[in-house]
Amino acid sequence: MAAGETLLETDTEATLISVLQHAFAEISPSRCDALIASGDLAHLPIQEVYRRFYNIVSEHFSGPLLCLPGNHDVLQAMQDAELPMQSIVWSDWQLLALDSHEDDKPKSLVTEADRQAAQQALIHTSARHVLLATHHPLVDVQCPWLDKDRLIGPLELMNWLHAVSEQRLRGAVFGHVHQDIADAVGPWPVYGVPSTCFQFQPRSHRFALDTAAPGYQWLELQDDGKIKRTVRRIS
Ligand SMILES: [Fe+2]
Repeated sequence: MAAGETLLETDTEATLISVLQHAFAEISPSRCDALIASGDLAHLPIQEVYRRFYNIVSEHFSGPLLCLPGNHDVLQAMQDAELPMQSIVWSDWQLLALDSHEDDKPKSLVTEADRQAAQQALIHTSARHVLLATHHPLVDVQCPWLDKDRLIGPLELMNWLHAVSEQRLRGAVFGHVHQDIADAVGPWPVYGVPSTCFQFQPRSHRFALDTAAPGYQWLELQDDGKIKRTVRRIS
């Protein structure tokens, strides 16, 4: 939101700061390899708000950051704010960014150009394991008002990514659902992360807020390709 404004009675800047403080009190930023901001980074999608977001994150963590565009985001404004939106690579792992958004529209949209961009990012790395990161969910979360916008054909998409990565895909993470989701698509684990602001009520048929606190997830990407994941919430 614009500085000083709230959304659904939530000071989203204050809760973001609380989440970052909580996370990096648990684990030193120097021990954290990367941070994924899984989309819907601004409700008021203008450059000034994205810059404020970027500054707040940078005050807590100076390592690699992957910002994904969500349905509330506007790509051009994110680019104007110089948010990093590229895949991130270590020796063993690659965080593969896939754009699933269309500016200011709730439905997921993975275009041929989005697929080509992901494929190009895969070709230029020799990381042994790949974690897909995207905004829209890859599974139904039993909330019809959210499920109508999930990615279309998630198994086909992941099978394709597994093939074009030469069998290196190990799992996926997504945003959008504002709740803790641990599920699978075929053989791959997929995780939805709590929001840094308000949460959506699990198994709600219509838009409904939950009383759970803002949260985040730690992902421990292991040498053998397995993913250890922990959800945390601020008090
Ligand atoms: Fe979203």
